[in-house]
Amino acid sequence: MIWEERIDRSKLPDHVAIIMDGNGRWAQERGYNRIYGHQHGVDSVREATEAAAELGIKYLTLYAFSTENWNRPSDEVEALMGLLVDTIEKETPTLNKNNVRLLAIGDLARLPQPTREKFERCMADTASNTGLRLVLAISYSSRWEITAAMKQMAAEVAAGKLTPEQISEQVVAAHLNTKDIPDPDLLIRTSGEQRISNFLLWQLAYSELFFTKVNWPDFRKEQFYDAIFAYQHRERRYGKTSAQITPKHD
Ligand code: IPE
Ligand code: IPE
Ligand code: MG
Repeated sequence: MIWEERIDRSKLPDHVAIIMDGNGRWAQERGYNRIYGHQHGVDSVREATEAAAELGIKYLTLYAFSTENWNRPSDEVEALMGLLVDTIEKETPTLNKNNVRLLAIGDLARLPQPTREKFERCMADTASNTGLRLVLAISYSSRWEITAAMKQMAAEVAAGKLTPEQISEQVVAAHLNTKDIPDPDLLIRTSGEQRISNFLLWQLAYSELFFTKVNWPDFRKEQFYDAIFAYQHRERRYGKTSAQITPKHD
């Protein structure tokens, strides 16, 4: 069924985050090495980005490389870094054509210099686009991000710029990499795994979670619409009762 027939345009999530998982298994099931799976995952990134842009979703965050992924075999890490550079280079004109702005969260300082430079150039080249914000989480982990925020707040306290009493949830959020980005409404994880893997621990506090068995290289617009459709049938209660969320009118 095409999405127009099932998705309610008035109840779209503002922010969808995806843990893109299962590239290695997808490739190995087909008798190829893991890198072949990562290469095919690029098509899925394009599909998810297009689907989000077409629906009018404001933010799409993709978990592309975690802090812990640095511990993978060096040939896989190198291949992933190369793939990132090639993809960003190739896709920048399409991002501009579709009014998509690229943002990044994570410890970019750890990236090899050519990768970091390509990234920064693409972010600068798309900075004036006003449509979908595509946020790539690269060399990202939530504990790294929260630790960095704590260090920064401690330094501000030591310098007399902040008092402990002033530290509120808003102040903590303002010290995270995601300070200008709303919390995700919906988190999707592919490949059948049901865990968060150090992704946006603070920001996912009240997100709806959607797990699919589909491996990332097989993820297409249809799977994105399935997740949005499921999201639209959830009741987000934020600790309240159902009656408080949907009061009965006599
Ligand atoms: C996700 O696929 C991509 C990255 C983590 C970079 P994986 O490489 O984790 O694939 P599986 O989970 O081992 O199948
Ligand atoms: C999470 O996937 C990280 C990314 C998708 C970039 P992993 O494959 O690294 O997660 P675990 O190790 O299975 O938890
Ligand atoms: Mg994995």
